[in-house]
Amino acid sequence: MNTKNIFFDGLAGSDGWIDLSVAIQHEMVHFPGDPSVELRQTKHLDWGDPATVSHLSLGVHTGTHVDAPVHFIGGAPGVDEFSIDAMIGPARVIEILDKETCTAQDLAAYDIREGERLLLRTNNSTRCWNVDAFVEDYAHLDMTAARMLAERRIRMVGIDYLSIGRGNEGPEVHRVLLGAGVVIVEGLDLSRVAAGFYDVVCLPLKILGGDGAPARVAVRRREAPTSSRRASNAPAGMMRAVVVAPQEKKVRLVERSVPHGPAASEVLLRTVEVGICGTDREICHFQYGTPPPGATELVLGHEALAEIVDVGPEVTWARPGDLVVPTVRRPCKNPHCAACRQERQDFCITGEFSERGIVRADGFLSEYSLEEERFLVPVPRVLEQVAVLIEPLTIAAKAADVFTTIHSRFGFDVPRLRGLILGAGPVGLLGAMVLQAQGIETHVFSREAEDGVRADLVRACGANYVSAGRTPLDRLSERIGKIDVVFEAVGVPEVAFGALDTLAANGVLILSGVPAERGAVPADLSRWMREIVLKNQVIFGTVNASRSNYEDAIRRLEQFMVLFPGAVLSLLNRVAIDQAPDVLARGRGIKDVVTLAA
Ligand code: BGC
Ligand code: ZN
Repeated sequence: MNTKNIFFDGLAGSDGWIDLSVAIQHEMVHFPGDPSVELRQTKHLDWGDPATVSHLSLGVHTGTHVDAPVHFIGGAPGVDEFSIDAMIGPARVIEILDKETCTAQDLAAYDIREGERLLLRTNNSTRCWNVDAFVEDYAHLDMTAARMLAERRIRMVGIDYLSIGRGNEGPEVHRVLLGAGVVIVEGLDLSRVAAGFYDVVCLPLKILGGDGAPARVAVRRREAPTSSRRASNAPAGMMRAVVVAPQEKKVRLVERSVPHGPAASEVLLRTVEVGICGTDREICHFQYGTPPPGATELVLGHEALAEIVDVGPEVTWARPGDLVVPTVRRPCKNPHCAACRQERQDFCITGEFSERGIVRADGFLSEYSLEEERFLVPVPRVLEQVAVLIEPLTIAAKAADVFTTIHSRFGFDVPRLRGLILGAGPVGLLGAMVLQAQGIETHVFSREAEDGVRADLVRACGANYVSAGRTPLDRLSERIGKIDVVFEAVGVPEVAFGALDTLAANGVLILSGVPAERGAVPADLSRWMREIVLKNQVIFGTVNASRSNYEDAIRRLEQFMVLFPGAVLSLLNRVAIDQAPDVLARGRGIKDVVTLAA
């Protein structure tokens, strides 16, 4: 039976909602091998019954429906366990009309982000629903696309026919998506919706342990950012900012005018919080940092969490109310810098980059700031309390990423790795969490005592703490054994290279601390060189981080909040903006955080 003729009209009504659901009817098309659909009346007004009552029998994957993880993964959750939040909220309709097989490459242009709900409109919408028979050559996702969407950790993916995958790959496409917690919506009719931003509502029947369930799905276009909206959101007048004036050797709280409304793809941010680190303190001791060209003051702050208040007319995903973390480094302008031209300014070759709040660009320690949308990373609301840690965590995330690349040079499996963190500052502690969460046996070596707060925190994550006071570095491997990966986060060369003695064969020493310049430090270079060569060891330095490291850091932080939330929260010490100059001069907590938004 032709299902098209009784579709809901699909055109947006005055309320703007567009129904994307296929009507369920007797003997309608279904996936080959699934139960057929039976819909008949058991009582009827026409037959003299007091009411009309129907009997419906159908497979749970009939018409417009969702797939639950248990559909392809034994023991996994059923459709009744889906969070309502995953199925209601902002969504994007993407059109890929000329492909039968959609690959990661086809999706690459869309800059798909974590947490997105995607509805993929293919040519199925116009060719599959108005025929009676099952259409075998329906458009679908291949494995590369499924893996990409799983890696991006989107919330939902919808497609306009009865399966998201096809052929031999079909089950694996499902498994990859379902395994990553992506809600799969199948059997949509997207013939009346164009590409763009919408709100989606998808409510599947609550079938206990159900491997799937028919759903009513509708979308409504999201209001485009308009000038009236911009005007009402845009704050006016003055704002507070914390600046350093290197020539005057001053750090102070000042008033500045609020930036103008965002143009083109700019976004106006209201800063929520800014973390303070060693780099900021060095800048405040006038040993580092450069104001923007022509300026005498530099607005501090590079570890920011912000909320979007207004967006320029050309933004693609940013919306007022979204929480974001800006990246720090901005690309250099040199056309020959291969790194910056590929948006990998963390590997900038020329050194002519700028860094917000550090070199040649103002930071975020002001109530408002402007930023290009492409330098913002969206943050899930659930992380709001700890998201200020994302930037420092990117340092460890990038180190872990490079380490993985180096480690993959072996063609064999390595048994459980042993890791050592040098330093129990914020980067060291976050590094310890990274190793521990990755299943690496983790030790933290630092100068604080073994019964101190930091030692407790390390143990709360399940890692081991060693105090330099009790075990000097040259005795460390006697106590804990040889180390496969050392992550240095103290900025003291004697400690960094002192750890070479503990490094195992094939070990990797990662340097992330930046020591102040001072005279030469004596070293036993011939012994080091001998060891490094004969043991295939690697030493590498790492600075800054790319967008992908931020996205990775967000995933890791979510994981930490499941594994050891108490330890993460106890890193933070919040102060108000008027205390910022003081906290910049002298640290108080492990990670001091200046709170700006009321
Ligand atoms: C920041 C990096 C920056 C580095 C050097 C660190 O504190 O986290 O983003 O690249 O300082 O300026
Ligand atoms: Zn560059």
